Amino acid sequence: MCGIVGYVGDNKSLEVLLGGLKRLEYRGYDSAGVAVIDKDGHMGTRKRAGKLQVLVDDLAERPLGNGATGIGHTRWATHGGPTDRNAHPHLSADGKLALIHNGIIENFSELKKELTDTGASFTSETDTEVAALLVGREYEKTGDLTESLRRVVGRLEGAFTLLVMHEDQPGIVVGARRNSPLVIGLGDGENFLGSDVAAFVEFTKRAVAIGQDQIVTIRPDSVEVTDFLGNTVESEEFEIAWDASASEKGGWSSFMAKEISEEPEAVANTILGRVVDGIVNLGELSPIGDDALKDIDRIVIIACGTAAYAGMLGKYAIEQWARVPVDVDLSHEFRYRNPIITPRTLVISISQSGETMDTLMAVKYATAAGAHVLSVCNTQGATIPRESHAVVYTHAGPEVAVASTKAFLAQVTALYLIGLHLAKARGTLSDNAIRENVVELQAVPDKIAEVLRVSQAEIGQLARWMTDIQSVLFLGRNVGYPVALEGALKLKELAYIHAEGFAAGELKHGPIALIEPGQVVFVVVPSPRDPDSLHPKVVSNIQEIRARGARVIAIAEKGDASVLPFADEVIPIPLAGTLFEPLLAVVPLHIFGMELAAAKGLDVDQPRNLAKSVTVE
Ligand code: F6R
Repeated sequence: MCGIVGYVGDNKSLEVLLGGLKRLEYRGYDSAGVAVIDKDGHMGTRKRAGKLQVLVDDLAERPLGNGATGIGHTRWATHGGPTDRNAHPHLSADGKLALIHNGIIENFSELKKELTDTGASFTSETDTEVAALLVGREYEKTGDLTESLRRVVGRLEGAFTLLVMHEDQPGIVVGARRNSPLVIGLGDGENFLGSDVAAFVEFTKRAVAIGQDQIVTIRPDSVEVTDFLGNTVESEEFEIAWDASASEKGGWSSFMAKEISEEPEAVANTILGRVVDGIVNLGELSPIGDDALKDIDRIVIIACGTAAYAGMLGKYAIEQWARVPVDVDLSHEFRYRNPIITPRTLVISISQSGETMDTLMAVKYATAAGAHVLSVCNTQGATIPRESHAVVYTHAGPEVAVASTKAFLAQVTALYLIGLHLAKARGTLSDNAIRENVVELQAVPDKIAEVLRVSQAEIGQLARWMTDIQSVLFLGRNVGYPVALEGALKLKELAYIHAEGFAAGELKHGPIALIEPGQVVFVVVPSPRDPDSLHPKVVSNIQEIRARGARVIAIAEKGDASVLPFADEVIPIPLAGTLFEPLLAVVPLHIFGMELAAAKGLDVDQPRNLAKSVTVE
């Protein structure tokens, strides 16, 4: 939450800051602000409540002098509402030092009291302002920006990324991080800082991730990283794997529309290079090692939201293929209940952003408790993979829309690859069986493309008919259950419609009381071809709700005539094995959520109250 960008170089800081903030706006969009030192050495700041465009329009009307040094911030409010005053940057008492912050300073009340008792006054309700005032005071004593920030970070508790600049120090921006992200972009005669590489990918592909409890000082020709004690730290450079254009809309009506269209590629790219002779081989798991993987007696998958639903699908596949028990836990529930972990536990964390604080804390907990920790992540250089023993990157490309779509499919794909790798390592599937599953997985991208081709227009129409709807239910059994949960979450967060996902078998244990005439219910129908299929049971569930007046929209295998008499609409999906059906059935639900939100005139990419990476607990 909150996007941060910093720049030193030539006289284009406003262009860099506003471009970077545009790309980081998915992280928070309550307010935005910049501070820039102009060519005459004056520092100007501008900050406005509302989306970034409000700030951009304000700057067009009342330009700020451009210069070679600047910082910018886009906010997701925690302490203090989304107002101009609470927007960042915040200033030191003399107004010469500007500071921006992502995270929460947990001991801010104590620090605020100390500052107030010694004569400071505050202009905002934020926790951030204490840091600005404290660093300002230290600067008055030391005249050294890096040293001033170092002295203050040692006193802060909680999670933070801080960037500071000072009017008397043009050409320098200093950053510090603890439990919040910060990445350096290396340019030619210019350098960048950002919450993630999207902030500067337009200008450079060379990046360096900053470690936990480290401070970085950037100047146009140098970058210096130290720990909080001042010891120099060696950092590793990496190349950003995607183009700036990958994080642009490119003619689509929304990022989400673009990202749903990229679902086939997200799956295909995640498989790419990970299959040798038809067998999955994940070299990334070598830091844990096949001997340890053979020996594990339990897997715990930890994640939040959509990523947790991907984890639920991973459970079905891994248990079936690798014959090891898998529990799926929400990261925040896992972390605070004294979970049972042994050296034979493999913890798999799933996070698109790699920065979700709840998952990061759970990963740290699991590592400290002695588990093997493997991350599934979509973001290079993010914190969670660096806190884990091994990482399998999903190659979905940048996901900008706040609600996750293509990353979900890539996460499920990565978990299936992990399941097949484990099956090989543990000898629970024959090579032939692994090959058959790999062939099924490799066929998924074309099948998703077919769903998009065949169903998009029809689902759009359906959504436009339903703009007045108050409540939607989603039902699924077995692997259809996480799909139902995902469909309901998308509808809640995108279209602000009350929606619930249920395991279809649970219906008669209570939720069926919700069914009244006209209630819309989406049902994920399993294939009738599978001998172990729950198809007849799901068809019975459809009949039960139909008898009570529900309006049924079935997502069913094409050619499945048995649902036709009972469903008001059938959305067909291509034939696939049971474990692979969810990767197809979820696509119409992603489209439906997006289309219904768009039909209601809502902002599909930036739903209210949300932020893409939830970096507070
Ligand atoms: C829902 C959604 C969220 C995220 C969750 C975890 O559409 O996007 O539920 O899935 O906040 O985020 P990551 O995967 O970044 O850890």
